[in-house]
Amino acid sequence: MTAALSRIDPRRYRDVMGHLPTGVVVVAGRRPSTGEPAGLVVGTFQSLSLDPPLVTFSVALTSNSWPKIRESGRFSASVLASGQHDVCQRLSSKNPDKFHAVDWHESADGNPRITGAHAWIDCQVHHEFECGDHTVVIARVRRLDAGSGEPLVFYRGRLGKYREISA
Ligand SMILES: Cc1cc2nc3c(=O)[nH]c(=O)nc-3n(C[C@H](O)[C@H](O)[C@H](O)COP(=O)(O)O)c2cc1C
Repeated sequence: MTAALSRIDPRRYRDVMGHLPTGVVVVAGRRPSTGEPAGLVVGTFQSLSLDPPLVTFSVALTSNSWPKIRESGRFSASVLASGQHDVCQRLSSKNPDKFHAVDWHESADGNPRITGAHAWIDCQVHHEFECGDHTVVIARVRRLDAGSGEPLVFYRGRLGKYREISA
């Protein structure tokens, strides 16, 4: 079993898994020590439990932003809207000043929400554990809200729009 798994080429793994479309979500928090916003783009954000309301995502162990976000134990998840590919590009970079060029506002919980996002979910970290080369984060939903418009979609390494088909 292990031998068979270890033969999987990472490029092929990425390519095949890229056939699963995802939303594009900015996870962002403010460092209590400096008040500075920190955030990154994730495609792994999803609902985990309804009662209690829990969400989950995974973040690479190499992330510079996650250790800063987790300092406060809370964050906002902004589901990017279809016109926000530039926000995705900026916040998926390693630039330490990447948040400065992004339009954001503070949520009632004090977390940075991306202005014009498709939906927002304010969360409190519930549990996290290392798995493979990522940290799996489980968080409790404190508040949430949705806007209008359409989401940004990530599919096969490219950003696109959602298209509805009639039944
Ligand atoms: C569409 C998309 C989805 C991504 N999903 C994830 C993810 O789920 N987890 C992760 O750790 N990085 C993900 N990334 C990569 C991070 O956004 C990127 O590595 C970023 O530079 C990390 O920044 P940081 O080092 O400031 O945390 C994704 C990038 C894109 C464009």
